[in-house]
Amino acid sequence: MKEQLVSLIKSSLQQLSATYDIDKNLLSALRVDRTRDKSHGDFASNVALMLSKSLHQNPRALAEEIIAHLPHDPRIAKTEIAGPGFINFFVSDESLCATLSAMLADPRLGVAKADKPQRVVVDYSAPNVAKEMAVHHIRSTVIGDAVVRTLEFLGHDVIRANHVGDWGTQFGMLIAYLERKENESGEGMDLSDFEAFYREAKQAYDSDPDFAVTARRYVVLLQGGDPYCKAMWQKLVTMTMEQNQRIYDRLDVTLTEKDVMGESLYNPMLPGIVADLTSKGLAVEDDGAMVVYLNEFTNRDGQPMGVIVRKKDGGYLYTTTDIACVKYRVDTLKAERILYFIDSRQHQHLMEAWTIARKAGYLPANVSVEHDAFGMMLGRDGRPFKTRTGGTVKLKDLLDEAEERVSKLLEERGSALEGDIRREVIHNIAVGAVKYADLSKNRTTDYIFDWDLMLAFDGNTAPYLQYAYSRIRAIFRKTDKKPGNFILNEEAETALANKLTAFPEAVRQVGDKAMPHLLCTYLYELSGTFMRFYESCPVLKEGVSDEVRASRLALCDLTSRVLKQGLNLLGIRVMEQM
Ligand code: ARG
Repeated sequence: MKEQLVSLIKSSLQQLSATYDIDKNLLSALRVDRTRDKSHGDFASNVALMLSKSLHQNPRALAEEIIAHLPHDPRIAKTEIAGPGFINFFVSDESLCATLSAMLADPRLGVAKADKPQRVVVDYSAPNVAKEMAVHHIRSTVIGDAVVRTLEFLGHDVIRANHVGDWGTQFGMLIAYLERKENESGEGMDLSDFEAFYREAKQAYDSDPDFAVTARRYVVLLQGGDPYCKAMWQKLVTMTMEQNQRIYDRLDVTLTEKDVMGESLYNPMLPGIVADLTSKGLAVEDDGAMVVYLNEFTNRDGQPMGVIVRKKDGGYLYTTTDIACVKYRVDTLKAERILYFIDSRQHQHLMEAWTIARKAGYLPANVSVEHDAFGMMLGRDGRPFKTRTGGTVKLKDLLDEAEERVSKLLEERGSALEGDIRREVIHNIAVGAVKYADLSKNRTTDYIFDWDLMLAFDGNTAPYLQYAYSRIRAIFRKTDKKPGNFILNEEAETALANKLTAFPEAVRQVGDKAMPHLLCTYLYELSGTFMRFYESCPVLKEGVSDEVRASRLALCDLTSRVLKQGLNLLGIRVMEQM
């Protein structure tokens, strides 16, 4: 409806442009919003306020003229001028019912595919080899995957790019240590505890000079393409990614082995990048290192920021790799939009890499690159989320604990589920709760990991939404009556109807802003609106007429389908019974 209203306003302004000189630039900013408060109608626009200044007109008078020139449209029951000059639109019940019927008949629930589908590269998850997936990788994984699912649903061509940290000087040490472990325990050693492996490797490196010599030799060999070192490196990468894949599968994340595009992929490009930056006069030598000075950023002394792209010893850096990486995504992957789900502490790093890439001509202005930053995950004490002994919290342990807690909860609630169904329900609630807790907060802020809050069956949680879904499905198990035409008599019915028709906008916003919490908020509000409807409008009760029951069943059906589809876009499963 929003788009329709925008075009109605535009055609009104078209006619007014005979009298007024309307600035085309202002028109592109023209907006129609859903109102919060029903007394202001269903939609409102500030177009008159926006134009009044440049046209030297009183905004209320201008609003009146705009309304007078609006083409007639049966979907609008009435318009009103409010406050300093807002135009409020009241949608007619017939129009609302028609929208609902169209949604009900549409497997996509009214969510249109994008007019201009884009090739979107999404950089997310990006764990490091021979390291445990840390908390910031979990956030990136969960939030990135929700946005990927949404963009694909909107018809975009999404390329998942798992920028795995699989290159760097630490690999000499890791290869040397893997070699030692294999000699001790033979083939097929278990590398399930990366944290211990990494720590021990570092210890050996720091305390054993012979080991350190080997480690340093192995880095050089690896970089030179030595087959033995390459094979050992590949083993480390494979072991890590197999372990991570188990986590992705358990978390119901859509990443696969095919999506790995690790740092090593860009390695062959790096000498060429530095040579090119040098020939373009961007990189200059400074004490043996190659440095790009950027006026856009200043260092602590207020001087232009120097970004090293090649160290004195010839080594390249994380930034050099990200410069090459963005070039690859533009040239080879043909990206039109690139999203980076990386924690906010890496913002400066990305800005430096992209500024250099722009100056070098690797990143054309029509390609949008976005740092979809997120804050930290904190414990209940407000400090970074850690185990009691200060170690990294392993995702496996976290999910095990979630499942234990959900199992207890189900017992307390007197659940009669057993066997496989029970296990599946426990898994879906546990995974859903952990993911939703992360997704439902505005990602830009830190968030507090709190078991009790995320597992509550009331409040803005996955269990609450999953439960709302299965409660609605239970209605359909109790009756063989079918949903029918929409009739909106009660206020609670109209409120639910209005909320339902806002689903497509909520989905589009997640795609535009890469912010899944907007969809979470929508689904939570939808459930609340549904509960209020369900309390005041009986569905199966005796005395409800067949037409009204059929309409209410249609509202129930549509609500459950919107909940299911919405949660699915967030990567969360619903259950018929729980
Ligand atoms: N591996 C990095 C880390 O653990 C994240 C990589 C993010 N992506 C990128 N293109 N820099 O922090």
